[in-house]
Order: sequence, then structure tokens, then C-alpha cells
Amino acid sequence: MKKLLSIMLSAFLYMSVTSCGEADSSSTANSSNNTDIQAVNSEKADRSSPDGKILVAYFSLAGEQYEVGVIEKGNTEIVAEMIAETVGADTFKIESTEEYPTTYDGLLDISKKEQNDPPQIANTVDNISDYDTIFLGYPIWWGDTPTIIKVFLQSYDLSGKTIIPFCTHGGSGLSGTDKTISELCPDSTIGESLAIRGSTAQNDRDSTKESVTKWLEETGYGV
Ligand SMILES: Cc1cc2nc3c(=O)[nH]c(=O)nc-3n(C[C@H](O)[C@H](O)[C@H](O)COP(=O)(O)O)c2cc1C
Repeated sequence: MKKLLSIMLSAFLYMSVTSCGEADSSSTANSSNNTDIQAVNSEKADRSSPDGKILVAYFSLAGEQYEVGVIEKGNTEIVAEMIAETVGADTFKIESTEEYPTTYDGLLDISKKEQNDPPQIANTVDNISDYDTIFLGYPIWWGDTPTIIKVFLQSYDLSGKTIIPFCTHGGSGLSGTDKTISELCPDSTIGESLAIRGSTAQNDRDSTKESVTKWLEETGYGV
């Protein structure tokens, strides 16, 4: 099965290169020395001093995950906690009303079904209007955001807010998901994004923390 996903991931990488006519910008723009970690310059990024209340909202699953075996804490959740700790933000873990399977094969199945039958979100952000900036974290699924992220974005009026995407992945990088978010939220500012390989987030926390800190400093959210 792992071999199968490797083939699928290669296909996604290939698609992201050919369908856009150029390599995914996430792999070239402003990338750090660690090829697993990418920060992406968005044209819309607001580099002025950020202020106001910050929320880190994320979707992330424990259980069996690609390249890392059975994990107790999701890869994206690890990054989300590092961001929240550094910037002093509130956190919100996006939960589905349906429990996700804890096997990797099960996740492949359910995630495909969700593309046509979107999940419902079980929890709600209180007082979303209080937040000026939302760091939004997710794993890359099928070369895209999980469907639940789209449901989340459509559940709130995020106009006028800054949304800063971050993701973990198994090799595809950001996969243009910052553009997807921008299309779903045309009246929001989309900040400079970060993509970290899931296995790096899970198994090399020091280097992940270093990259998160550097990215936050470069984008004006550092301490
Ligand atoms: C259903 C599913 C689809 C995936 N599709 C991709 C993909 O297209 N490209 C990629 O790089 N990684 C893919 N992955 C790997 C995840 O993005 C990666 O393991 C991520 O770090 C998981 O994050 P989490 O532990 O926070 O849920 C997929 C994983 C799952 C479960």
C-alpha cells in the first residue's frame, strides 16, 4: 500500500508541474535550505507589522500516517502547536462529526468519498470576529486541502482577515493550496505559506521548530 501511495504522490507531483505549466512555486520561492520545508511568497502577503488577535486553526489526524507509522499526535498538529506557542495564539482543532479511521488505507477511502460528500464540522470557533489573523493548518490530501478545510472556510465570514496557510505533506509540498484558499476567500489576505514534510515534523522536532521560527520571523510574526 505504501508503494501505491508513493506512486500516487509522484503522480500528484507530476500533475502539479504539468497542469500549471511550471513547477509549483512552493518548491522554489523563498525556500529554506531544508528541501522538506518551504515558505512561499504570496503576492497578497501583508508584510506590515501584524497586530490583533491570532488564531491557529488546524485539521490533523493521529493514527497510521504516511512514512511515520502509527502516531499519537498528528504531524500538522505538532506544527500548529509550535506556531501558537511562538506567536501567542489561541488554537482550534477542526473536528469532523464522523470519526476518522485510524488506518492509512481507511483514510484513503474516506478522504476520496468526502470529495463528493463533504463532512460536517463538529465544533465552532467562538467569536471569529475577534481574530484578525488565522493561521490555517492541514495535511495535503490527494494534492489538495482535505475537504473539511473547504467546509471550514465556507462556514465563516473571513473577509478582511489575513489567512496564513501551513501544511504537512508526504512529498507534494503546498500543492497550490494557498491559491485554492485564496479562491475560496477572495476578500481575505493570504499570507506567506509554510509546507513541512510530515515525517520531518514528526521525527525531527528541533529542525521543524527552527524552520517555523525562521518563517515566522521572516513574515513579521516572530517574537
Ligand atoms: C488520504 C491521504 C491522502 C494523502 N495525499 C497526499 C498527497 O497527495 N501528497 C502528499 O504529499 N502527501 C499526501 N498524504 C500524506 C499527508 O499529507 C501527510 O502524511 C501529512 O503529514 C499528514 O498530516 P497529519 O498527521 O497532520 O494528518 C496523504 C495522506 C492521506 C492520509
